[in-house]
Amino acid sequence: MKHKKLKPFPKDFLWGASSSAYQVEGANLEDGKGPSCQDVKVVPEGTSDLTVCADFYHHYKEDIALMAEMGFKAYRFSIAWTRILPQGTGEINQKGIDFYNAVIDECLKYGIEPIVTMFHFDMPAALDERGSWGNPESVDWFVNFAKILFENFGDRVKYWLTINEQNMLTLVGPVIGTLMIPENCTNVLKEIYQQNHHMLVAQAKAMVLCHEMLPNAKIGPAPNISLVYPATCKPEDVIAAQNFNAIRNWLYLDMAVYGIYNAIVWSWLEENDATPTFAPGDEEAMKNAHPDFIGFNYYNTATVEEAGEDQIEAGQVKDQQSGQKEAGMYQGYRNPNLVTTEFGWEIDPVGFRATIREMYSRYHLPMLVTENGLGAYDTLTEDGKVHDPYRIEYLRQHIAQIKEAISDGAEMLGYNPWSAIDLISTHEGMKKRYGFIYVDRDEFDLGTLNRYRKDSFYWYKKVIASNGEDLKDE
Ligand code: BG6
Repeated sequence: MKHKKLKPFPKDFLWGASSSAYQVEGANLEDGKGPSCQDVKVVPEGTSDLTVCADFYHHYKEDIALMAEMGFKAYRFSIAWTRILPQGTGEINQKGIDFYNAVIDECLKYGIEPIVTMFHFDMPAALDERGSWGNPESVDWFVNFAKILFENFGDRVKYWLTINEQNMLTLVGPVIGTLMIPENCTNVLKEIYQQNHHMLVAQAKAMVLCHEMLPNAKIGPAPNISLVYPATCKPEDVIAAQNFNAIRNWLYLDMAVYGIYNAIVWSWLEENDATPTFAPGDEEAMKNAHPDFIGFNYYNTATVEEAGEDQIEAGQVKDQQSGQKEAGMYQGYRNPNLVTTEFGWEIDPVGFRATIREMYSRYHLPMLVTENGLGAYDTLTEDGKVHDPYRIEYLRQHIAQIKEAISDGAEMLGYNPWSAIDLISTHEGMKKRYGFIYVDRDEFDLGTLNRYRKDSFYWYKKVIASNGEDLKDE
């Protein structure tokens, strides 16, 4: 639909940006913080470890002041479970509570709405040793952690996100450094979807608890949603696209919103003897949970064609946007209509609109963009500038598509691209930068850790000031 007139962004639209604790904070074992799976994993060769990151832990005041200067209305960050509960359960680390109180208060000082992710890829190492999400007790571990967060921060935090990219944890967990598969496991698919089930139940219980404890707060899931296109109009390719849409996207949202397992996924699991076991009360817990909105990360779309019977080989899965193959279900197809980033991710702004439309048709809930952005090599010039027109262009095109989607009738709450400030990428270390704020360090040399405003910083400031009306780059 070509709109005759575009609708404006809502007045209280939450313009901001995102980060996650293990990628931005550093101070990974400081002030009583326990190790998470990210602190004990073997990082990809040639990439930085996660001990210092952007050192947000020691720079948060300066960083939040810069966000305020950009005019942020919101800042989406995650709370490190191991800063609050070093062992994952048991004793609370007061210094962890103090740190997040300070971060939240600093945001509120500038009128920035804190949007808190409760779990972003950082399972406490102590809980990994107890079986991680494979242990049925993981549901209680997470709900206990959620309760502590609601008790301590619920007086000021109005927006909560449960689990970041649960779908990616399930589909490509090992490349993110998560998902523990026990050594003697004989049915890996069943194990993975049992862990996924525990996460779904944990999320559902946390949502119910949030509504009980904080009647004015809003809570939602935060999966990575990419609409899946068929490679051609061949009917078999359409079925393949529906298969991958179900496995990648709808499983997570059908459950979060309606409390039901997606039928296509359930049949596929049944055929592979991989359906999860329900504990008493699980079904009811999942039905009782009702998110207030859908948070979602969007980087690109996916395209698939009919699949043969051979499985993807180990080692072919590079990151959370790849590895699209499942015997008899779908296999990835390079979309010839799209260009890619320097790091090989397809760029599809129109697919952003299509993804939003599809989600709104299926779920009829307001949506909050919790990630979107361009990872690129940036260069700091001698006079302290970072010229990143490629990032401005990427963001400009995507924001323009949100406007189209709003004009299509979708309800959008906010836009929080990845990332507020440079941080460590999940797979590519420090060199793949996403931020509006440049951090002076490289892969292994910690540099000065000084902050610099990129060109995109000034551009985004103007976008926010005009409430999305002025997207020009000049
Ligand atoms: C999302 C994650 O999958 O993508 C972030 O939620 C991640 O944690 C982001 O950093 C970008 O991915 P990458 O691999 O480029 O860091």
